Amino acid sequence: MKGFIFSYLTDYVEESFGLALVDELLTEIDLPSKGIYVAYESYAFSELVALVSAVSEKKQIPLEDLLEGFGRFVFPHLITRHDYIITDYSNPLDLIAGIENHIHIEVRKLYEDAELPNFTNVLQTKNKLVINYTSQRELAHFAIGLIKETLGHFNKQGSISMEKLTNQDHTTQFTIEIHEQ
Ligand code: HEM
Repeated sequence: MKGFIFSYLTDYVEESFGLALVDELLTEIDLPSKGIYVAYESYAFSELVALVSAVSEKKQIPLEDLLEGFGRFVFPHLITRHDYIITDYSNPLDLIAGIENHIHIEVRKLYEDAELPNFTNVLQTKNKLVINYTSQRELAHFAIGLIKETLGHFNKQGSISMEKLTNQDHTTQFTIEIHEQ
């Protein structure tokens, strides 16, 4: 994962729990990077797992909740950093349905070694999207955070449910329904 993602992660931990916890993590965990992240360099995903797991243990907060919180935290930064990619979207379902064939393709042009998931659109109507998320990194709760913020970005309310698929490896199906206001 890119260094800037790790920098957002330490910002998230600092904003949520204070700088002392960030210092503690960087001192106690034996990270190959030593916690020094250069924005466009790539670092092992295992560093992210080590950091989030340590926060989960120290603060007694489920890993899933931290990953969702991190997804929510990172979304506004991701879209500000790459605003030109999403200017043409006027609703959240089109944006989410466009990750695989547009958004992450643009991301790949910028960072050719980005570790990106796969999304498969299963069904889309005006107010509903069913989409499968596949990634060896299994960051479904991070994705939920991003999806919630995508709805918020367009001032939409909705419900999101998730189901881990048993017939497909590393795959979670999301059903997103927008509530008409
Ligand atoms: C403009 C919008 C977006 C941009 C610019 C963007 C960009 C990125 C970048 C840079 C990464 C990290 C790659 C790396 O460090 O190697 C990433 C990963 C990821 N993105 Fe996006 N993304 C966007 C929208 C979304 C949305 C709306 C979702 C919602 C589900 C999403 C789901 C994910 C997930 C789950 C990952 C983690 C990698 C994995 O699961 O394997 N992205 N994205």
